[in-house]
Amino acid sequence: MPQSLQITAAAPDPALLDLPWHIPLEDWPEDNLAALPRGLSRHVVRFVRLSGRVIAVKEIGESVAFHEYQLLRDLNRLDVPSVVPVGVITGRTTLDGEPLDSVLITKHLKFSLPYRALFSRYVNPETATRLIDALAVLLVRLHLTGFYWGDVSLSNTLFRRDAGEFAAYLVDAETGDLHDRLTDGQREYDLEIARVNIIGELMDLEAGELLIEEMDTIAVGEMIVLRYRELWTELTRSEEFDTGERWRVGARIRRLNDLGYDVGELIMTTDLGGTTVRIQPKVVAAGHHHRRLMRLTGLDVQENQARRMLNDMDTYRVAMDRQGDDEEFVAHDWLSEVFEATVRAIPRELRGKLEPAEIFHQVLEHRWYLAEAAGHDVPFAQAVPSYIDNVLRHRPDEEAVLGLDTATLAAIEPD
Ligand SMILES: Nc1ncnc2c1ncn2[C@@H]1O[C@H](COP(=O)(O)OP(=O)(O)O)[C@@H](O)[C@H]1O
Ligand SMILES: [Mg+2]
Repeated sequence: MPQSLQITAAAPDPALLDLPWHIPLEDWPEDNLAALPRGLSRHVVRFVRLSGRVIAVKEIGESVAFHEYQLLRDLNRLDVPSVVPVGVITGRTTLDGEPLDSVLITKHLKFSLPYRALFSRYVNPETATRLIDALAVLLVRLHLTGFYWGDVSLSNTLFRRDAGEFAAYLVDAETGDLHDRLTDGQREYDLEIARVNIIGELMDLEAGELLIEEMDTIAVGEMIVLRYRELWTELTRSEEFDTGERWRVGARIRRLNDLGYDVGELIMTTDLGGTTVRIQPKVVAAGHHHRRLMRLTGLDVQENQARRMLNDMDTYRVAMDRQGDDEEFVAHDWLSEVFEATVRAIPRELRGKLEPAEIFHQVLEHRWYLAEAAGHDVPFAQAVPSYIDNVLRHRPDEEAVLGLDTATLAAIEPD
């Protein structure tokens, strides 16, 4: 029997069988494809419509496909922001029986923006800094879980809006490896790759005259190193103090929480005489606010969005004079009376413009500006319609960028 098509997936969608696997990906008919913005790649990558969703299909060698599929599964299990793997297809042949490369399939990451779309228009140094910051946060997070990336770059990262900042997602795990823990040498090596790649990518944009403003590409590239080190040190450094200053233990934990990290384990040692104490965080996990909001409301949003919502929930608690109530009850009421009420007020045709959590964040900002201009508080009932008519209507869609080319997408104004 000739070799046949094989689909490896946790939950295979039978509709996968209807796609033209016997044709090289490059030649796939337009009507299968979704025209979404894509970053640069070595391999052929196409976005494909399937059962009302969009998947990303990448043509690569079989062993690499399985390696990447497994790593992406691990990263998802470890709760690291990355694209979600769907499966691997092997045993492809043309109708004449010529073998074709395998493919790795991932879910298209909704509302994600490749850096070329973000960088190529209106990019001000501040947006560049935010993107680099987001990448540094991702790299620290990967390294904390023991993941060595091996090809850190802007092209291998996708960005999603996160309450005025950006959240970075890993998209290409091909060169990666998961270890129990990384050595300093491995981390440094990854960091050096990041620096060199970012500088190269920015120089490319510059050479292609895609950067509107002058940018010191070397300085932006160096920034990844600075930001990474700052954060890594903050998360892992040990601290020594007098036994009498025990409040410092709680203060350190709170500081880490404020930064968005939970402390899984903290090592505390004293010297022989028992006069000084040393503490060192051993296991820290990102997503403190994300998890807290999820526990209270079931909402699954980005870290900064979650932080923003938790703050609004506190304001709501005070405004309703409910300081004594259980936070679960307050959260429940805030969810329906504030968050869901706001999202419901958005006309259906405008909902593809931004994710609900980002819309909510922008409504809060807008309300703040209105209040400042008016010199007094402005209720949601007034802020929401004003936001819809004065802000949201004028933004391009970021979910349904179907059909837009990258140049149009690039016109999406950063905040
Ligand atoms: N699941 C996905 N969601 C959104 N974009 C994706 C996805 N997978 C790939 N892409 C886009 O395709 C580009 C190339 O994918 P990548 O895995 O880096 O391929 P290569 O191994 O050839 O470099 C990425 O930069 C990204 O823009
Ligand atoms: Mg890549």
